[in-house]
Amino acid sequence: MRIILHIWRQKNTDSPGKMVRYEVPDVDEHMSFLEMLDVLNERLIEEGDDPVTFDHDCREGICGACGMVINGVPHGPERGTTVCQLHMRHFKDGDEIYLEPWRARAFPVIKDLLVDRTAFDRIISAGGFISVSTGSAPDGNAIPIRKEDAELSMDAAACIGCGACVAACPNASAMLFTSAKISHLNLLPQGAPEKHERALKMVAQMNQENFGACTNVAECEAVCPKNIKLENIARMFRHWIEASAAERAG
Ligand code: SF4
Ligand code: FES
Repeated sequence: MRIILHIWRQKNTDSPGKMVRYEVPDVDEHMSFLEMLDVLNERLIEEGDDPVTFDHDCREGICGACGMVINGVPHGPERGTTVCQLHMRHFKDGDEIYLEPWRARAFPVIKDLLVDRTAFDRIISAGGFISVSTGSAPDGNAIPIRKEDAELSMDAAACIGCGACVAACPNASAMLFTSAKISHLNLLPQGAPEKHERALKMVAQMNQENFGACTNVAECEAVCPKNIKLENIARMFRHWIEASAAERAG
């Protein structure tokens, strides 16, 4: 099939950028979306043009590197699917597809569809870890964990840090991401001793990074490829309020 692409081209963070039209004939329905972009890029290179820059790594939905806005929706039309797992069979001959980078002040465009997501790394560095000396591997059943907590923690740990939640939010809020990372550790006994400090530090870092506030629009949950739930944001607030009250009480 023949696909018409309108792609955001921007040389670097400071240049203005614009949409550029490309035609990709002979797209196979079994191609992944990124393979279709690879085909376009091979042609652009052959013609001496600058290939389209986009982020990717694992191409199997686990690393969180890929991500772009496809026809106005982060990661495109399929729910619970990263761009690298989206296939061309979900499009039809003659479709016009608009591709843009994540739009958020905290994620400046580096080039074309590639954005700088190091703000997420700084949020993790602020408290997304357990600071204990772990020693050798403990026995698997040494620390009993309630099944419900283990499952909630596991669900939160599924966050791949892609940033689609920020891109979908009209406030560019990072609360779904930050709350998933806090929940993942705070729900487990290993993370519990630092849960208040973690919530305070990670929320403080999030606030420093130019992300907006949450106003319960819930677009983040709708586009998240890993189905991270809004309830994580409620849990983050609870832990943050408890921590703030404990801090005030001295
Ligand atoms: S919460 Fe979902 S959309 Fe946001 S970074 Fe994690 S996986 Fe991506
Ligand atoms: S390239 Fe790793 S999740 Fe898409």
